[in-house]
Amino acid sequence: MKYQIRGTPSTVIGIALLAVSLGIFLANHATSPIHAAQNQPVAADILKIAATIKDGNNAAAKKQAAALAAKIEDLEHVMRVFKPRKKDGKGGVGVGNGGITPDGIELLLYDLEAGKFGAAAIAKEAAVLEEMAQRIAAVAEVTDVKLPEKFVLPQKKENWLEWSATVRMSAAELAKAAKAKNAQAVKTIAGKINAACNLCHTDFR
Ligand code: HEC
Repeated sequence: MKYQIRGTPSTVIGIALLAVSLGIFLANHATSPIHAAQNQPVAADILKIAATIKDGNNAAAKKQAAALAAKIEDLEHVMRVFKPRKKDGKGGVGVGNGGITPDGIELLLYDLEAGKFGAAAIAKEAAVLEEMAQRIAAVAEVTDVKLPEKFVLPQKKENWLEWSATVRMSAAELAKAAKAKNAQAVKTIAGKINAACNLCHTDFR
């Protein structure tokens, strides 16, 4: 006997549409790095830029960063992606509940530098750490083009650009080191990134 879908054409079409939209819904949730609760404008933009960096399309990432830089007043919300996860879903490390402690990029970078994560922990969290590194690179793409409106002594534009570039390039190295599960490199590079974050904050925050 042949299998048949019973029902009027409209219910068949209705079921087909439902199946397609469910498929799209599931596909988005499976592949999108954007956790629903984190989907507020700036954080979502940073995650999109991070995804573009993950795809290896740095030219497109720079365009997305320039578009974000043009629509924000300052870096407050951009930098917030580095803070611990809040109940509203902003901040944190990784998607969903990340599952990594501390659940905040700034704090985790310090713990990585301090060597609180051994080789086994870094290998286990390699994918989360790689995504974190791409998020840091995304923020640095924005600091590359969103400069302070004025520089007051002793602030220097060259310093800003240098620290931003250091974070951007070190974040790319961190993504590679995490992917390679190279614990020693992860530790060293986390230290390099922290130093650049701190240098910029000393003068500009
Ligand atoms: C090129 C300069 C620069 C670099 C590099 C930089 N920051 Fe910032 N950061 C700033 C500025 C400027 C602010 C203040 C933003 C504001 O409130 O307008 C800030 C603010 C912050 C805040 C506070 C956000 C809030 O809630 O107000 C955090 C957290 C932060 N940065 C983390 C980091 C971390 C972690 C790094 C390194 C991975 C980093 N920053 C690298 C310039 C920088």
